[in-house]
Amino acid sequence: MKGIILAGGMGTRMLPMTKVTNKHLLPIYDKPMIYYPIQTLVNAGIDDIMIVTGGKGAGDFLELLGNGKAFGLKHINYTYQDGAGGIAAALALTEHFAERNKIALILGDNVIEKNIVKGVADFEKQEKGAKIYLKEVKNPQAYGIAELDGGRVLSIVEKPEQPKSNMAVIGIYMYDARVYDIVRTLKPSGRGELEITDVNNAYIKEGTMTSEVLDGWWGDCGESFDSMLEAANLIARTGANNL
Ligand code: G1P
Repeated sequence: MKGIILAGGMGTRMLPMTKVTNKHLLPIYDKPMIYYPIQTLVNAGIDDIMIVTGGKGAGDFLELLGNGKAFGLKHINYTYQDGAGGIAAALALTEHFAERNKIALILGDNVIEKNIVKGVADFEKQEKGAKIYLKEVKNPQAYGIAELDGGRVLSIVEKPEQPKSNMAVIGIYMYDARVYDIVRTLKPSGRGELEITDVNNAYIKEGTMTSEVLDGWWGDCGESFDSMLEAANLIARTGANNL
């Protein structure tokens, strides 16, 4: 399986901290934010990784990460996103890298306490489709939220005004090679983006989506200043990802 980390965007929710740099380079406790998703992939045995960046400080990723020596990697692939177009639009830029392999996609601002080793192994065995992780949240209006029937995901609504549950779809996704064909069918949402939630709903409709509740805490550092602070405090107290 190949790994893709999204680290572009304009960081508008984190201004003025992102006025001159990229959100994913900001510190979370004692490391730049991007370190955490890289370690999540490496811990799961995924060492063929592409980082999609853009916006402010795009060149700084190369200077910070080089070929990934700090993570025991020999090489990191990079690609560049012009402007902001949504998660699915950034994913579309990685088709040449994926080369029809299964992929694990992580949003560069998502930090987890534990690991995705079992999920990656399960998805390697899954014949086709996709896999998502769910986690209970206090503010479901800020996320993609699952409508559930027991353990089964019936649909996902992006930032619902009236959430059907408090189970958020976190920013770690696994897809088969058809994900790029699905992205090509998407239309921009109300916020003008190609939504990853629409990709996930396509797999749900097809009946090939599996889901798991994430073990340990999850931090979406890019959602708000408070979520960033909470993630830093959790890392300071309990550590994350072996980092
Ligand atoms: C994105 C996704 C959302 C998901 C969240 C997790 O939100 O659209 O479904 O729950 O990441 O971090 P965004 O960061 O674009 O607001």
